Amino acid sequence: MTEGSLPAGNTHAGETARVGVVGAGYWGPNLIRNLAELPRSPLVAVADRDPARLEYARARYPHVRFYSELEELLADGEVNAVVLATPAELHERHALAALEAGKHVFVEKPLATSSAGCRRLMAAAEAHGRVLMVGHTFLHNDAVRWVKARIDEGDLGDVLYLYSRRLNLGQVRQDINVVWNLAPHDISIMLYLAGQRPDRVACHGQAFLQKGVEDVAFLTLEFGAAPGGTGARRAAHIHVSWLDPNKVREVVVVGSRKMVVYDDVDADHMIQVYDKGVDRVPVQAGGAAASDPRERLETFGEFKLWLRWGDLTIPKLRVAEPLRNEMAHFIQCIETGQAPITGALNGLEVVRVLEAADESLRAGGAPVEIDWSAT
Ligand SMILES: NC(=O)c1ccc[n+]([C@@H]2O[C@H](COP(=O)([O-])OP(=O)(O)OC[C@H]3O[C@@H](n4cnc5c(N)ncnc54)[C@H](O)[C@@H]3O)[C@@H](O)[C@H]2O)c1
Repeated sequence: MTEGSLPAGNTHAGETARVGVVGAGYWGPNLIRNLAELPRSPLVAVADRDPARLEYARARYPHVRFYSELEELLADGEVNAVVLATPAELHERHALAALEAGKHVFVEKPLATSSAGCRRLMAAAEAHGRVLMVGHTFLHNDAVRWVKARIDEGDLGDVLYLYSRRLNLGQVRQDINVVWNLAPHDISIMLYLAGQRPDRVACHGQAFLQKGVEDVAFLTLEFGAAPGGTGARRAAHIHVSWLDPNKVREVVVVGSRKMVVYDDVDADHMIQVYDKGVDRVPVQAGGAAASDPRERLETFGEFKLWLRWGDLTIPKLRVAEPLRNEMAHFIQCIETGQAPITGALNGLEVVRVLEAADESLRAGGAPVEIDWSAT
């Protein structure tokens, strides 16, 4: 994971966070609830230009102040931090206005709809000495963090490939396609688990419901593929759709020693670790003993391949609500000066992959290279 943009820049460490949320539509109420329920309840204001959404929030949190517009909330002198849950195409404008008004800012994903926009936000956060954090929720998810810890400990062996599926019927958006809407989650997870940035991205997609707005997409991220690249060579595949019969939220990591399935929909079996794999054994090492639990797969000249079938483990995890972790982390970064684990640079990385995916989509799925030296 990339550390955030502002370790030294938060010139206001030590102050108490008092947060205003802008956007109480579909997603905002989840952030509002988590802020309201944190210790010392840092929620002090909510803004939404839709009176019905404002009423919804007022009925639940009558003790905070309510505004119709972002600008009114920014003029509230008690508010020193803003959480933006407004549509993606407004993120850059709203975050810039909040930073320029001297507020710390949390922006829902994606950080902006262009890498140039992300860079403008990074520069503003640094110039004003404020925290800028992006809502890559899954990096605050205890299950995802558990998988990452097993990878880093070497328990899975080398990560060979990864894939994810984020499918459902519904939450169809008109403003952005399914790649910009859903794939930021998967891209952030893949970059985090792989511990690398992809050099090459390909994306195929199709638009059925609205012209030019893809409902389903298949992305391939290649890591370590650039000539002279140093990172491990591996791939990640992402399938996102809002036109699918089943709700699926799954990430699979195939390692050389073990394989992990993370199923966000199955609370009882959220993580499954398969002690399965294929071992390469030199031929001169001799055949397996009769009791060898492995199954001989093939002989290739100097080595044999053996299938290994070990135990399936379902670890018991204590999983806090990821949004609670996320909001608590935002408050902690404001109050202690700590850099966000999902800071602006992390937001920029994900948006650069999204831009490459979009370019590939428009080119019929042709692979697009990303030059990270320019980040
Ligand atoms: N982390 C996640 O899992 C997750 C899930 C869903 C959505 N999101 C993100 O949350 C954000 C919001 O998505 P949504 O589905 O809730 O959208 P939405 O359209 O349902 O809600 C956005 C709200 O913002 C309000 N708004 C817009 N401009 C405003 C302004 N200038 N002042 C005050 N209010 C304003 C609108 O009235 C609306 O109620 C998006 O960035 C989306 O990507 C994140």
